[in-house]
Amino acid sequence: MDKIRVKGGNELVGEVFVSAAKNSVLPIIAASILGNEKVTIKNAPMLEDVYVICNVLHELGCQLSIDNLNNKIIIDSRNVKPIDTSNNLVKKMRASFLVMGPMLSKFGRCKISLPGGCNIGSRPIDLHLKGFKALGADFEIGHGFVEVRADKLTGNRIYLDFPSVGATENIIMAAVLAKGTTIIENAAEEPEIKDLADFLNSMGAMIDGAGRGKIVIEGVESLKGTEHIPIYDRIEAGTYMVAGAITHSKIKINGINEEHLRPVIEKLKESGVRIDVLAEEQSIVVDGRNIIKAVDLKTMPYPGFPTDMQAQMMSLLALANGVSVITETVFENRFMHVSELMRMGANIKIDGRTALVEGVPKITGCEVKATDLRAGAAMILAGLVAEGETQITDIYHIDRGYVRIEDKLKNLGANIERY
Ligand code: UD1
Repeated sequence: MDKIRVKGGNELVGEVFVSAAKNSVLPIIAASILGNEKVTIKNAPMLEDVYVICNVLHELGCQLSIDNLNNKIIIDSRNVKPIDTSNNLVKKMRASFLVMGPMLSKFGRCKISLPGGCNIGSRPIDLHLKGFKALGADFEIGHGFVEVRADKLTGNRIYLDFPSVGATENIIMAAVLAKGTTIIENAAEEPEIKDLADFLNSMGAMIDGAGRGKIVIEGVESLKGTEHIPIYDRIEAGTYMVAGAITHSKIKINGINEEHLRPVIEKLKESGVRIDVLAEEQSIVVDGRNIIKAVDLKTMPYPGFPTDMQAQMMSLLALANGVSVITETVFENRFMHVSELMRMGANIKIDGRTALVEGVPKITGCEVKATDLRAGAAMILAGLVAEGETQITDIYHIDRGYVRIEDKLKNLGANIERY
């Protein structure tokens, strides 16, 4: 199995280009099932998770053309069949569950393997099912599967107890072809939800309010084909921003939307990083040549600080001047990177959902594990400044969500390679 080796100490210089958002593209590919014509996704990020959702669609009968060279995916869903999806694809990626809303909508039934627990928490699906039920579906759970059925879906008012990203997306996808009006309250406000709605609206759906807490969906009869360019990946951009800060370098990051990155920009500024947004160019210049100060942060649903940036920020704050308090409110078990950072010499104590990070003057390279996707990115970031060599194992997690991270960092001057 591949590993990544990083030799710490290099200053970064130059520019990096951000890919399109994985978390936009996954629901958009799933939503392609709903249409009766071809859908083209341009500038798609060619990532493991994207291949997995494409495989799920292929299994369901979609015809896909994946052009790796031009980052283009064409999906023809005219031959989709209401067959059960196989266990191993859902096991590989929880987001496979996003086909449930579209399949229920198109065929009135969907049977899929239960996603189960994952590294960062139990991640139940009760809110997805609550939404489907409100639209008129019944569900049955047993033998590791969940089956949802409905003779017809009818719009309804749905209040989510928590603004779950996946549940909001699945309910939108189930509701676009339902009869009448669906209102989702306390919906997730993440930019990826708005991107999904923009995509569906370009196919003829009528979704209003996506990106805010109340989303109104007027059901339509059918959806046509479309072409879509997804939004930039705000988490990938944030990861490179931390790369600039942690190495005390000045770098330019191209492919950003300032609004989507606001919580990350503000937190980095608070810690002493100089940030210059070039809005017209959709770029940002990060200058980390100052001393990095300790800051407290709490992860929250958007527009709060993203849980997907918590691990990377912890690597930075592990070397900051002072003590930072990091509180994880979104997932219950998202501190697995702590023990790995401590092996590198970080001084971190965990108390429930809070981590107390006491900045140390230096960390040292050793073999560490990518315990999940963002934790893996955090290890690379720590490796960029650690004394000596850091070897990162289990990097398949990193490949799920970062397009050629080692090449992009190497272009910036990092001493990094896959072996
Ligand atoms: C999505 C993102 C993931 C990100 C997360 C939170 C994708 C493919 N993944 O994951 O990168 O970290 O949002 O920003 O877009 N929950 C329930 N019941 C449910 C559903 C969720 O209790 O039915 C809980 C989860 O256990 C978790 C919290 O809600 O504690 C947030 O989960 P959710 O917003 O659904 O995250 P995902 O859509 O899985």
